[in-house]
Amino acid sequence: MRAIDDHPVKRDVPRLFIPGPVEVEQSILDAMTRPMIGHRSPEFTALGEVLHRDAQRFFHTQDPVYVLCSSGTGGMEAAVRNGVREKVLCFVNGAFSERFYKICVSNGKDATRIDLAWGQAVKPDQVREELSRGDFDAVTFVHNETSTGVMSPLEEIAEVVAQQDDVFLLVDAVTSAAAIPIRLGDMAPVDYLVTGSQKALALPPGLALLAVSERAHDRAATIENRGTYFDVLAMNKSWKSNQTPNTPPIALMQALKDRFAMILADEANWYRAHQEKAELTRDWARKQFQLFPEAGFESVSMTCIENNRGISVADLNQTLRDHEMLLANGYGHLKEKTFRIGHMGAVTLDDTKELLGLIDDFIN
Ligand SMILES: Cc1ncc(COP(=O)(O)O)c(C=O)c1O
Repeated sequence: MRAIDDHPVKRDVPRLFIPGPVEVEQSILDAMTRPMIGHRSPEFTALGEVLHRDAQRFFHTQDPVYVLCSSGTGGMEAAVRNGVREKVLCFVNGAFSERFYKICVSNGKDATRIDLAWGQAVKPDQVREELSRGDFDAVTFVHNETSTGVMSPLEEIAEVVAQQDDVFLLVDAVTSAAAIPIRLGDMAPVDYLVTGSQKALALPPGLALLAVSERAHDRAATIENRGTYFDVLAMNKSWKSNQTPNTPPIALMQALKDRFAMILADEANWYRAHQEKAELTRDWARKQFQLFPEAGFESVSMTCIENNRGISVADLNQTLRDHEMLLANGYGHLKEKTFRIGHMGAVTLDDTKELLGLIDDFIN
């Protein structure tokens, strides 16, 4: 990733080390100020063509990837409305996986939740075992649970689900996609996978990407009341002509075009940058505090640190604000018990070192 100093944002607000929204460099923000184009014009079709092609390259898939005008939650709702026939198994190991479950319930699906302790990962064996207990037609889980900093093993879970007959896998990859490679074409099928623009794609909020398997379109055709705005068959019809069903967020799509170009130009470097920031932060956290997630399942996009020193995280953030930096307090009941440092967006390894140094000063 380019160093933030190469494209400094003129600022009077803190640099974001929160797990989204994240820092966006000026060159990408500038892409959003290109002249407006009509969404039924040839200029838009050209933009759509590039985006659809690059979204497939990004996920290493031949299947469609839809660009939605919504935040990540909308993508989750789209997955549930189109992907669950009736009975869905939801693994809940934090706040966002609970949200997935609640979306299933509020859309009238027969949802069974399997609760794990916050901080635990979803394991393939458990998925296999729970699936054997009922005639589920879909499974939801969150690849990277942002409330706890836990990354569950996507490929292994996809493998287990693929061994079942006609069970769909719905994955929230909101804070994993673009932080680690997700090569959909090289793994067992994932029927719906969603991410949001304001996370590791390092764009402003407002876009969701929804990768949808071929067979998922066939099932959607059999599901009544899929709604209108998030109907994948309508998305697919427009996608085939490089359009969108409704007026899309064109400015954000211009920025996405540039971001894809940047990632695809040097994927290894893009992902290495996230890994380096994560490893630096974890090593530091193990010395100064303790990591919250179950060992071996620590997130690459963000680190959730257990506040075993009992510092005031609110005071820490106030101090960091004096240095124009901001991290995230713990989520929900983990507030003050944990805090979270993001590795997404246009913050460099040096920025991260500076942040950790300031936290050292605070605790000393
Ligand atoms: C893992 C995860 N899923 C879903 C969401 C919801 O995304 P949005 O706020 O874009 O709707 C978030 C937001 O932080 C998240 O971290």
